[in-house]
Amino acid sequence: MLEHTIEIRYGEYSSPEELSAADRELAYAAIEAIKGSYAPYSRFNVGAAVRLKDGGIVRGANQENAAFPSGLCAERTAMFSASATHPGVAMTSIAIAASQEGKLCSSPATPCGACRQVMAQYQLLAGEDMSVLLVGDGKILKFSKVDDLLPLIFDNI
Ligand code: THU
Repeated sequence: MLEHTIEIRYGEYSSPEELSAADRELAYAAIEAIKGSYAPYSRFNVGAAVRLKDGGIVRGANQENAAFPSGLCAERTAMFSASATHPGVAMTSIAIAASQEGKLCSSPATPCGACRQVMAQYQLLAGEDMSVLLVGDGKILKFSKVDDLLPLIFDNI
């Protein structure tokens, strides 16, 4: 039996000012995107912003529905919108921010498993790492690639 260890690395920042200019812009875009959230059931408002290889930014926000499973997370709303409106353009980064009762959450929202899987596929399609910024109030986590959120990514088909 071989025992393997997987190491996961991420950076922690205490303010958007500590980020690079491009990451700061994306973090603020994710916060801004929260305005598009429709979350009457959970009242958990999430915004996401995807950076495209050509420099553009595509925003998304969570959309809920009375038939609960029909809703969609902010991350997938943003990524699917980016892919649908900019087909073939690589996604190089995604930022996520969440708020409750109009206040940015201090604890950064971490993407669900389904969103991580979708990130993994667009990263594979891009052929380069997609970084992930989880933006909280006074705490920002940066993962330089999706693998650090989803090790042993499924890409066998
Ligand atoms: N949600 C997101 O949009 N992204 C996340 O990373 C976590 C959860 C949404 C789904 C649902 O509308 C609400 O937040 C509560 O789970």
